[in-house]
Amino acid sequence: MESIKIYDRVFEVMISAERIAEAVKRVAKQINECYSADDRVVLLGILNGSFVFLSDLARELNFSPEISFVKVSSYEGCSSTGEVSDLIGLNDSLKGRNVLVVEDIIDTGSSITHIWSALQRHDIASAKICTLFFKPEAYRADVDIDFAAMEIGNEFIVGYGLDYNELGRELKDIYVTK
Ligand code: IMP
Ligand code: MG
Repeated sequence: MESIKIYDRVFEVMISAERIAEAVKRVAKQINECYSADDRVVLLGILNGSFVFLSDLARELNFSPEISFVKVSSYEGCSSTGEVSDLIGLNDSLKGRNVLVVEDIIDTGSSITHIWSALQRHDIASAKICTLFFKPEAYRADVDIDFAAMEIGNEFIVGYGLDYNELGRELKDIYVTK
């Protein structure tokens, strides 16, 4: 099995690009059933990690969404710092929109809780959450996760947008620490 090294850690393939593509198609199908063509939907990608997932997801939708990004961060290295900085880039263009938050991975839920409460201060029509990966064993928040493409255990993964100290985002497959 091909392994790669990023800084001090060795990673090996856990989920192939083909399996990721299948999971993206599956979750897109669920999303397509929830929205219709004349809903004003905004895909709100959480930077940096969601940029790959969002671009593949958007192209599987059978309605035409607006696309916007905000930035938030709670991670340093392999574990959550538990501290979440402010949302950067959230603005009035969300007014009256059906917002679909697009995350790369939801772990403890601290980031999504912060994003969720920030969204409630805006005059939006509705909000739902979609994540590529969900770690149910680590999740400690109250916010409902509407769409999760894949569930994983408490492991640390990189690739397909996800990073280890900002590296590994360009990898086509998902890798896990050995
Ligand atoms: P939470 O606030 O604990 O839910 O963490 C969410 C954020 O932590 C994600 O948006 C990622 O940036 C990062 N994160 C959590 N787990 C992983 C992982 O396994 N690999 C890479 N980044 C992760
Ligand atoms: Mg990250």
